[in-house]
Amino acid sequence: MNTVWMTVAAYLLGSISFAVITSKLFGIADPRTYGSKNPGATNVLRSGNKSAAIVTLIGDGAKGWLAVWLAMRYQQQLQVGDTTIALVAIAVFLGHLWPVFFRFVGGKGVATALGVLLGLDPWLGLATLATWLVIAFAFRYSSLAALVAALFAPFYYGLLFGVEPQLLAVFVMSGLLIFRHSKNIGNLMAGKESRIGSKSKAAA
Ligand code: G3P
Repeated sequence: MNTVWMTVAAYLLGSISFAVITSKLFGIADPRTYGSKNPGATNVLRSGNKSAAIVTLIGDGAKGWLAVWLAMRYQQQLQVGDTTIALVAIAVFLGHLWPVFFRFVGGKGVATALGVLLGLDPWLGLATLATWLVIAFAFRYSSLAALVAALFAPFYYGLLFGVEPQLLAVFVMSGLLIFRHSKNIGNLMAGKESRIGSKSKAAA
């Protein structure tokens, strides 16, 4: 029973779109109406408002981290196993991708996935973040950095902890994240992807 409400609660938490809420609070346009139309930190940055982008990044990351951290913190008291932790991780991520509060139009999951990974294990999150940073600094494509980091995350988990339910959750998150970047992959291959910091982008 605890598994059910924990999974539902994680999904609801993930459904809070910080890109949309932050943009409203900062008085800037809804990110679903410009750039890639993605409600995420990278697209909010295209508005030119760096503070709004940073708040979005922190908010979307924090919800992923909080869901997993709470589940793990109270795992024994709630008498749930690792499968529940894996379900909570997937659920908060799914909430971000398909949020019930925003007509199921969500983001691509990069910040939330990072939060989830940090919640599962700080070293796992930091290794994945380092991968993102290396690719982002080298190529200046946020999407490419996310794709490479998503490919590496399951390997990092496997190396650190071996095969357990959470590894499957990381695989699922990476797979969905890559799927959500289909248009970015097309743009990257066509040389049309916008680089980090550029303010305009053809609707993707
Ligand atoms: O954070 C998502 C990023 O990887 C790509 O976003 O807006 O360029 O499609 P965007």
